[in-house]
Amino acid sequence: MELNRIQAEKALEEAGRSNPGPWTAHSRYAAMACENIAARCPKLSAETAYMLGLLHDIGRYVGICSERHMIEGYRYCSAKGWDKAAQICITHSFMVKNIESAIGKFDISPGDYEFMKQFVENAVYDDYDLLVQLADSLALPTGFCLLEKRFVDVTMRYGVHPYTVERWKAVFAIKEHFEKIMGCSIYDVLPGVAENSLS
Ligand SMILES: [Fe+2]
Repeated sequence: MELNRIQAEKALEEAGRSNPGPWTAHSRYAAMACENIAARCPKLSAETAYMLGLLHDIGRYVGICSERHMIEGYRYCSAKGWDKAAQICITHSFMVKNIESAIGKFDISPGDYEFMKQFVENAVYDDYDLLVQLADSLALPTGFCLLEKRFVDVTMRYGVHPYTVERWKAVFAIKEHFEKIMGCSIYDVLPGVAENSLS
């Protein structure tokens, strides 16, 4: 089944009913960040970017969980034939391409862990994978924010991890990658980012 915007919106709405929480609002802002940045990148589709951003955390439909949400999202999207969205359900957390760099708890079976380990090692990232990794760090449930604000928000919730700084550096490198393509700051295309970061 070809993914389209209406299906992506419907999937997130259903997932939000199944497991209500701030993660759906975060997903919507991540999607808008993807869309706005992609709109300034000649080789990317803003529409595709929006849908991939919207679905990156869709695995949270299963309920409150940690890293399990990645493999559940992968399965959900794969079952619908949304292959790129499925890939990003896993890759969005791996700006450092190493399973051990994930900051959450691996609340999954040893078999699923091994699958994810191999998947991350073998995944070939394109700009959509990188864009969702970036957008995930630009989106609070209340709006866009500076990367630094989201980094502190996540670190306060998950704690400091051996890969924390390496992950931050990787996201800043992705920011620079897109800014070179866009010819402006990513923050120029994120309305309300200053106000939201100050609140
Ligand atoms: Fe996310």
